[in-house]
Amino acid sequence: MKRTFFFMIAAGLLTAGVSFAADNSAMQEMMQKMGGQTPDERVELKLPDAMKVMQKKMMREHLDTIAEITGAIAAGDLPMASTIAREKLGWNPQEEQRCNMVGKVTGEKDFVTYGMAVHKTADELSTAAAAGDRDKSLALLSTLIKNCNACHEKFRH
Ligand code: HEC
Repeated sequence: MKRTFFFMIAAGLLTAGVSFAADNSAMQEMMQKMGGQTPDERVELKLPDAMKVMQKKMMREHLDTIAEITGAIAAGDLPMASTIAREKLGWNPQEEQRCNMVGKVTGEKDFVTYGMAVHKTADELSTAAAAGDRDKSLALLSTLIKNCNACHEKFRH
């Protein structure tokens, strides 16, 4: 009885191993097609783990804010888009303090520059939306997202 049980576990592990190897080679093949493995050459932000967790949580909130702004513009509610952009993503003393703190802890001054670009574009978007300019709001939304990506291309955890 014990023996059968042992064989069942062993067979299970073997199957799992084989299928992992198969998945792995499929993955290798896919990566090869995409140009092969390349090193991550972005600058590592040397932050304590607790700050990384906090920063990533804030980042996910930023992405949610982008969804809310997009939704408000799509619904034709430009005043709402304006309020969300300014209140949740605009440049303010708290945001400045947070960005400066990351810049200081990591010694990466550029972090503040990239952060400020995002938040100031959010303010511009807010102004355009408040003026009822839908096209300009959308163009600034695109700029805003590109500003997010510029920092992601430069830094990593
Ligand atoms: C000044 C730099 C900077 C800016 C600006 C920035 N991010 Fe990030 N973001 C980061 C870093 C650093 C990470 C962590 C990357 C890693 O895990 O290696 C990150 C990670 C993320 C993640 C992944 C979170 C997770 O749970 O892993 C999301 C989503 C994200 N950012 C959204 C945004 C959005 C949306 C914006 C613009 C509104 C934005 N970020 C602007 C630096 C930035």
